[in-house]
Amino acid sequence: MHEEEIKKLFHRQEHYVLGTYSPTDLVLTRGALTRVWDIHDNQYLDFTSGISVCNLGHCHPRVTEAIQRQAATLVHVSNLFMNNNQPELAARIAQNSFDGKVFFCNSGAEANEGLIKFARRWGNENGRHQIITMENSFHGRTLATLAATGRAKYRKGFQPDTPGFLHVPFNSIDAARAAVNDTTAAILLEPVQGEGGVIPAHSDYLTALRQLCDENGILLLFDEVQCGMGRTGTLFAYQKYGVIPDGMAMAKALANGFPIGAFEVKSEYADILPPGTHASTFGGNPLACAAGVAVFDTFEKEDILDNCNRMAAYLWDELSNLAQRHDTVLDIRGMGLMIGIELASPVKPLVQRARENGLLVLSAGENVLRLLPPLVIEANDVDRAVSIIDKCLDA
Ligand SMILES: Cc1ncc(COP(=O)(O)O)c(C=O)c1O
Repeated sequence: MHEEEIKKLFHRQEHYVLGTYSPTDLVLTRGALTRVWDIHDNQYLDFTSGISVCNLGHCHPRVTEAIQRQAATLVHVSNLFMNNNQPELAARIAQNSFDGKVFFCNSGAEANEGLIKFARRWGNENGRHQIITMENSFHGRTLATLAATGRAKYRKGFQPDTPGFLHVPFNSIDAARAAVNDTTAAILLEPVQGEGGVIPAHSDYLTALRQLCDENGILLLFDEVQCGMGRTGTLFAYQKYGVIPDGMAMAKALANGFPIGAFEVKSEYADILPPGTHASTFGGNPLACAAGVAVFDTFEKEDILDNCNRMAAYLWDELSNLAQRHDTVLDIRGMGLMIGIELASPVKPLVQRARENGLLVLSAGENVLRLLPPLVIEANDVDRAVSIIDKCLDA
């Protein structure tokens, strides 16, 4: 890109794009699996995957081919008609999770919003409406999902909060037990908290939550928007725990970057949302679903989970060696290729230094470095990333 064009681009960003984000000045123009390139054609190893979206890597050939083919065939029809990709993607999701039915939408927030509506409609008849969620959680930016989100800073300035949500400490079964009452409809949580600092639920905690919900006849709902789609080494994180939810939200990596969201509810609850109770214009359109089906095809044909688990084992080993060399590393946590490295100091300068050295990484809060590499990374990508982080920690 010429200097003049670059100047114009920045001018347009500043003058015409609403400033809800504060992006760095890095402008990315193309990607291929584990790599992305900027406007100056500098190459980066991407350990962010667009925040756990491009889990199969950028422009994965199978997904690209499916999008191109479908874009030339049929992009959109309304849900007044059936299309041939939506039932296929719903079947792939249900066959790879639990016996359930799926509603399609366009984002993680919209998926959680739908799950919340499902829980309300299920509970309404017997006076149950309250949803218990976790402190430090993140569920999205719509008004209901903001209210569900257990971090006050996101809600600041948007009062009044949407009523009907109660936040309790994560990983405390006593707190959850104390919060349940006759008005409780559901407990909603991320099996591995992402934005909150990459914190996995304890295994006995999820088991106890399932039991608590069963004893009280309330719903257990999982937000797998960030931790789902292979990120933790199983297709959905809950499968690591062997605790099956009554409903689950997914989005991000479901179509490897093509916008999509979905929620699934157990088949026994399928009648809770009959015709006319919920809808979304773009939800489940042929193009998004074609991309989603290609994602499932890729998981099946390329043994993505096997690679994820092998690379995760290697990366965790290398990171624990690195932790021994740097006192500033306080903790390494997470699951599979969803990893948080807690530092004794703010992480922002390290993110910047890593970028200057050709590696893209994320933060989660002030002190946690978050790694979400594509599940298709290879051993030499791990070596490169760890050596750059090592060098940045030295600095
Ligand atoms: C766990 C979780 N839920 C929901 C969301 C919201 O998803 P979206 O930004 O697609 O609305 C996110 C986004 O980061 C998330 O991490």
